[in-house]
Amino acid sequence: MSQQQNKGTALVTGASSGIGAIYADRLAARGYDLILVARNEERLHDVADRVQRTHGRGVTIVQADLGARDDLARVEAILRTDASITLLVNNAGFGAVTPLLESDVDRMTQMIDINVTAPTRLAYAAAPPFVARGGGTIVNIASTVGIGIEIMNGVYGASKAYVLALTQSLHHELASKGVRAQAVLPGATATDFWDTAGLPHENLPAAMVMRAEDMVDAALAGLDAGEVVTIPPLQDGNDWIEYEATRKALAQRFAHATPGERYLARAAA
Ligand SMILES: NC(=O)c1ccc[n+]([C@@H]2O[C@H](COP(=O)([O-])OP(=O)(O)OC[C@H]3O[C@@H](n4cnc5c(N)ncnc54)[C@H](OP(=O)(O)O)[C@@H]3O)[C@@H](O)[C@H]2O)c1
Repeated sequence: MSQQQNKGTALVTGASSGIGAIYADRLAARGYDLILVARNEERLHDVADRVQRTHGRGVTIVQADLGARDDLARVEAILRTDASITLLVNNAGFGAVTPLLESDVDRMTQMIDINVTAPTRLAYAAAPPFVARGGGTIVNIASTVGIGIEIMNGVYGASKAYVLALTQSLHHELASKGVRAQAVLPGATATDFWDTAGLPHENLPAAMVMRAEDMVDAALAGLDAGEVVTIPPLQDGNDWIEYEATRKALAQRFAHATPGERYLARAAA
């Protein structure tokens, strides 16, 4: 049983397997009660039973399809009204490995529903009460392909680039109001994600696939360290710091009424 003090309640989406199930275990060990959200009720019960047995914390299960507007609204309502919630982990998501010409656009829009719309609406539900209570944390699970857009399916990469950008904007707007935001960018991680995407991770070189436990423990270490962006597989953290500095410097160079010289020369020709 955990001897940790109560940290409030963490709502974790996609908690029925993989990364979300490990978050459930680790957060309960840290003293959080849990609200676990996913579609598969049986698997949610398995996770809840295991966490309760191991850590003795309160666990509530919410069976919901975050791609269904009514179900999503139910989860938003919990975030708006349950004052015990101090942490939201937007983890539910799925990916694909197919290129555009082999991808079904309906499947792609479902991906946008789960990977983009759901975490956005849940962050919008959580943020106002967190601000009103003077604290709270939003963890968004993005991906390294949010930077390496060309590596997997383009809509998947774009959805995770969105999650990264949204998180940076949440930090920018809400840090001064006591609300923390963290984007976690896992690389290839050994979960069912790869089966859903159509390429079981056993097909990938073992040297590039991280255990889900190691990924989540590193993500939580990054959270403890105060990071806004945590990239567990990145070996040298300075690489990200330099990349961000370049991005922020570039963003200061767009305030001009005239186009760049290289376009003026061509337009005049
Ligand atoms: N594994 C990797 O290599 C990797 C790398 C980078 C980022 N990520 C990200 O990590 C997150 C977690 O993925 P994972 O690796 O742990 O894969 P996973 O084992 O397949 O877990 C995905 C979770 O999302 C839930 N989910 C999917 N669709 C849902 C829906 N419509 N409504 C509610 N819940 C839904 C699933 O639960 P139900 O099926 O029960 O609904 C499951 O609990 C995802 O956002 C993924 O994009 C994974």
